[in-house]
Amino acid sequence: MPRVFDNITPRDIKLWGNHTVKLGHELPKREDLFSDESLAKIIESIDPRDLDITTMGDDVSTWGHVDRAGQPGSKVLDAVRGGRVWINLIAVEKADPRFAALLEQMYAELEATMPGFKTFKRKMCMLISSPTARVFYHFDVPGQSLWQIRGRKRIWIYPNTEPFLPPTQVENVVRSLAMEDLPYEPWYDEYAEVYDLEPGQMLHWGLNGPHRVQNLDDFSISLTTEHWSSEIRRSYAMHYGNGILRNVAHWTPRSRSLDGPAFWAKAGLTAAWRKSGMQKKQGYKRVLSYKIDPDAPLGVVPLDDKDKITVTL
Ligand SMILES: [Fe+2]
Repeated sequence: MPRVFDNITPRDIKLWGNHTVKLGHELPKREDLFSDESLAKIIESIDPRDLDITTMGDDVSTWGHVDRAGQPGSKVLDAVRGGRVWINLIAVEKADPRFAALLEQMYAELEATMPGFKTFKRKMCMLISSPTARVFYHFDVPGQSLWQIRGRKRIWIYPNTEPFLPPTQVENVVRSLAMEDLPYEPWYDEYAEVYDLEPGQMLHWGLNGPHRVQNLDDFSISLTTEHWSSEIRRSYAMHYGNGILRNVAHWTPRSRSLDGPAFWAKAGLTAAWRKSGMQKKQGYKRVLSYKIDPDAPLGVVPLDDKDKITVTL
């Protein structure tokens, strides 16, 4: 298989994991993986629970899930091209072994270049989105990268500290009590790093950095990859432990240390809490309130209440 990365410099290696790093990659040359034909086939064959189609207006209130409504993959792509649709093919490495091999190779090249970087629980998602699609302000729990294949995107990345990322929100998300959306204020943009991502570029940013994304008037194909490392797992345990202290013991945690007695006490608390079954068991559901319609101006039409579909995940 051809190499994924062009060149990783000593400067990239120093910044990796703590700051935003932009690297060059060769994925736009992989027609076999990213042609319309290949995308259409995956849309048709992926487990429907891993096919997350959404539509959005200009603010969060206009966001909703969309039913494929039996449309063939090529028609779904037509709806994305002409409408306002965002498709996430979740864990595409499980749906297609070619992407499993690609995911393996991406991390093999990174880990060979950076001896301290060891990852596990990797996952890949493919994003297929309309020229005007956007993703609202949120953060992700594991380490995240965004890979641009076709079209261009603008991404705003914000500091992973208060007020941009409230610790209570991180604690609730790691404890599965809340989703990754965050409250957003337009003035946050004065503190953002802004990157325009072209085909053949990828971005990796500091852990939990809040971000939002806007396509730059092109039909867009991207990948996201996520990973865990022992440091990310310690950060997760710290937030989890702080959440228990804050919500259950009504004690305001002051430490965000990832080592020392306070950290290990929290890691122990987290393990005991999860083992005791006290963790809230949540069955996630997706309610489909639109359906794909390639002939509609936005590529989707709303469903009547009686026709809405609930997908249990
Ligand atoms: Fe994200």
